[in-house]
Amino acid sequence: MVWQKNSHCVKSMGDLSAQENKLSGFKGKIILNEPLRKHTTFKIGGPAKYFIVPFDLPELICALDFASLNKIPFLVIGAGSNLLVSDKGIDGVVVKLSSDSFKKILFKDTVLEVGSGCLLSTLINEAVQNGLSFLEFLTGIPGTVGGALVMNAGIPGKSISDLIEDVTVMDYNGKVKVLRRADIEFGYRQSSLSDCIVLSANLKCVRRDAIEIKSRIKAYLDARKNSQELNLPSAGCVFKNSSIGPAGRLIDSCGLKGKMIGSARVSEKHANFIVNTGYAKAEDVFTLMKLIIKDVENKFNVTLEPEIKIWE
Ligand code: FAD
Ligand code: EPU
Repeated sequence: MVWQKNSHCVKSMGDLSAQENKLSGFKGKIILNEPLRKHTTFKIGGPAKYFIVPFDLPELICALDFASLNKIPFLVIGAGSNLLVSDKGIDGVVVKLSSDSFKKILFKDTVLEVGSGCLLSTLINEAVQNGLSFLEFLTGIPGTVGGALVMNAGIPGKSISDLIEDVTVMDYNGKVKVLRRADIEFGYRQSSLSDCIVLSANLKCVRRDAIEIKSRIKAYLDARKNSQELNLPSAGCVFKNSSIGPAGRLIDSCGLKGKMIGSARVSEKHANFIVNTGYAKAEDVFTLMKLIIKDVENKFNVTLEPEIKIWE
């Protein structure tokens, strides 16, 4: 068993003794009081009481049983690129599907079977090497396949749901099933997959010349570099675009670029990005979000809805 202690967890080993049986013989990692700021692109977030990286599916089921037996929350984190985690952290289990078992990519002609823990950047690179196209619009999105499916990640007019043939999921009772595209509801930055644990997906691509694919990737990257703040920690766009226009334009029109609370700042480059300029706390970001919502409501009579997931 690999109980990885860190400096905050002196008392936790005692807590565990009664529960160790459930996780005995674990080949993956179990870290006590792991700071989630190490696992979010915002670099914000308090500790997860049990941070578990299961080695394989049976260990994932063990982690789920462990949470259910102890009646504590069970959450899955991808690359943490759309997450704001509270400063007090998560008094429960946070699972990261980053071991090899959950990152496999299998080529089946033009269909790619990919594990949910695989990074989109890795998937895109592998697809290019094999002359497979369709994923290029996901270039620059710093998430995993699982997070992208749950969030239905994309850009205006295109989203990952366009590529899906089916998705293999596990429900919170540990039952694995294959959902066809038609069985899943997808919307703007949301999907019904948020009710389960995503394990893998079959994505349909098309064949294209590798040079052409690379030039499409470059165009997407250049557009992103020109408009988005990529040099400081963030979670991308904080709010969904509204019915009356892009959130970034509305926030910008309120004169909020550069507005700071603690170390959290509205990006000067893209007003729908909040950046962590140093040691921002989740509380700073919440306060800044509330201020943005209020100013946009006062000026445009529309309430911005957060795009990022908030773990409190
Ligand atoms: P996380 O942030 O870790 O999690 C997001 C949600 O998915 C959480 O609710 C989590 O519990 C759930 N989840 C993750 N994995 C699983 C799983 N295997 N099973 C069940 N639930 C799971 N998004 C876009 O759509 N388009 C963009 O252009 C874009 N640009 C971005 C640019 C930057 C610089 C940044 C920082 C973010 C950007 N994002 C964008 C947001 C983010 O990258 C995407 O939403 C991404 O898909 C999130 O994936 P993740 O693995 O990081 O998920
Ligand atoms: N704008 C401003 N001021 C700003 C920012 C934007 O006036 O500070 C204006 C732009 O000039 C443009 C319009 O707002 O006319 C839209 O801006 P942009 O083209 O940057 O696109 P967006 O709607 O802000 C969306 C996604 C991004 C995605 C890009 C790809 C949402 C909330 N955002 O941004 O996704 O990368 O399109 O073009 O849907 C994310 O979801 O995290 C994300 C970054």
